[in-house]
Amino acid sequence: RAPEPATMVIFGVTGDLSRRKLLPAIFGLWQDGLLGSAFNIVGVGRQEMTDDEFKDYAVKALQESKETDAIQPGSLEKFRELLFYEFGEFGEDEVYDLVGQELDRAEAAHGGRKNALFYLSTPPSLFEPISNGLGRLGLADQSEGWRRIVIEKPFGRDLDSARELNAAIHATWDESQVYRIDHYLGKETVQNLMAIRFGNAIFEPLWNRGYVDHVQITAAEDLGLEGRAGYYEEAGIVRDMLQNHLMQLFALTAMEPPAAFDADAIRDEKTKVLRAVKPIPLDRVDQVAVRGQYGPGSMDGERVPGYREEPGVKPDSRTSTYVAVKLEIDNWRWQGVPFFLRTGKRLPKKVTEIAVVFKRAPLGIFPGGLERNVLAFRIQPDEGVSLKFSSKSPGQEMVLREVVMDFRYDAFGAQLESPYSRLLLDALIGDATLFPREDEVDHAWQIVSGILQAWDVRPGKGRTPDFPNYAAGTWGPEDAEALIGPDRRWRRL
Ligand code: BG6
Repeated sequence: RAPEPATMVIFGVTGDLSRRKLLPAIFGLWQDGLLGSAFNIVGVGRQEMTDDEFKDYAVKALQESKETDAIQPGSLEKFRELLFYEFGEFGEDEVYDLVGQELDRAEAAHGGRKNALFYLSTPPSLFEPISNGLGRLGLADQSEGWRRIVIEKPFGRDLDSARELNAAIHATWDESQVYRIDHYLGKETVQNLMAIRFGNAIFEPLWNRGYVDHVQITAAEDLGLEGRAGYYEEAGIVRDMLQNHLMQLFALTAMEPPAAFDADAIRDEKTKVLRAVKPIPLDRVDQVAVRGQYGPGSMDGERVPGYREEPGVKPDSRTSTYVAVKLEIDNWRWQGVPFFLRTGKRLPKKVTEIAVVFKRAPLGIFPGGLERNVLAFRIQPDEGVSLKFSSKSPGQEMVLREVVMDFRYDAFGAQLESPYSRLLLDALIGDATLFPREDEVDHAWQIVSGILQAWDVRPGKGRTPDFPNYAAGTWGPEDAEALIGPDRRWRRL
C-alpha cells in the first residue's frame, strides 16, 4: 500500500487538531517510508508566517505531541524539507491561487503529477468557503492528477445543515472525491469488529434476534471540557459523539454481511441498517433517550469542577454532556432487540466497548439463576475481545460462576497505529471504505435529529431534567438505569 506522489494541503494547519494529531500522524507514516519518495505538505492558515517559521512550528509540534512516534536521528531535518506554508483569507481567491502555485511546483518535483489531498481541519463554518474557493480556482479538477477533499467533523449541526453542506460540497466535488472523516473508523479494534464478524463462521449464526437479548455500546470519557467550551457549548454530546462515532459503531455492529470488503459494499450495508432504525417521534424522545450534564465531583480522589463552572461555559448552560439512547431496528434480523448507546464526559474512566448480550439459556437446571453470555469488543483501552459465560465452580456442589475468555491485542506484540495515520493513508491511496458516505451521514442525522429537536428547540417542553444531574466521576444520571431496566443493567466497566 503506497500512495502515488502527492501534495497534502492542510487548511487550518495551526489549529489544535493539526498540531496534536495530523502532523504527528503524517510524520509517522513518512518516517516509516509509507508515503513514497515524492510527498510534501502545504500548510494553509490565516496567520502570516514564512515557510521557515512554519517548519519551526511543525517541528515543535512534533516534539511536543504525545502522539509522535520515536523520532529517528536526522528525521526531523529531512521532514522539514517537505513543508511549505501559504496564508490568506479563505473567502478570497488569492490563497487558492497560491495553493495552485504550490501544486505546480510539486508537479516538477513529483515527476509530472499534480495529485492533491485537501484536508479541512478548520471550524465547520469554513468548510463551504474553502470547498468553493478550491472549486473556483479549478483545484478540484482531476485532469492533471487526482484531487480529494477530507472534511472533519462536525458534518453539519442538524439534518438540514448537513444536507446543505453536502449540496454545497457537491457543487464542486464528486462524491468519490469526498472523504468525511470519523476517526473511530480508523481504530484498529473497530476494523476488527468486521474481521471477527465476517471472518469467522461461529458468530454470525448467533448474531440476530434468535440469540441476542440486547446490545450495549458505551463510549465513556473521564475527561471534561479541556478548554473547548466555545465548540462544546454549541455542539453538546449528541453532535459531538452520538451522531458520528457511536452511530458508526452501531452501524458496524448491526449491519448485514457485505458481499465484498470494499468501500461501497460496506457503506451500502451501513446505510441500509441506519435506514431501518425506527424513527423517534418528538413525543417519544423522553421514553428512549436520557440526557445529563455533570456537576462538580471527584475523579481519582481530586475535586473537579462541574460543567457550568468550566471556563467559557454559561452558568446556566443547558448543554448535555451525557446521552443514553435506546434504538430499535425494523428488520428481520433485529426485530425486538434493543440497542442501548451511551456516552458521556467526566464518567469514572475512559472506556469504549460494544457488548453483545445474549439471551439466557431456555431452561435452568442448576441451582441459582441463569446469567446472560456476553461477547464484548473492547475498543479502547486494553483493546481486545472477551466472552463471558458460566462454568462450574470446582467443588462438591454444582455451583455456577461467570468466567471470561479473553483475547488481548498485546498478543500480537505490535503497537496499534493511530486512527489518523490509518485514515490519512487510506485517503492518499483512495480507499474510502472507512469514510462515511453522504447517505450514511444523512441517515445518522435523521436518527438523532428528533432527539436534538426535542431537546434544543422545545426547551421547557416535556421532561426537562434539572441540570446538573450527575456528579463528575459517576456513571451518569439515574434515569439511564431506568432506560435500560428493569431486567437489564448497564455493564459495570
Ligand atoms: C472527538 C470529540 O471526536 O472524540 C471529543 O470531539 C472526544 O469530544 C473524542 O473526546 C474522543 O475520541 P477518542 O479517540 O479519545 O475516544
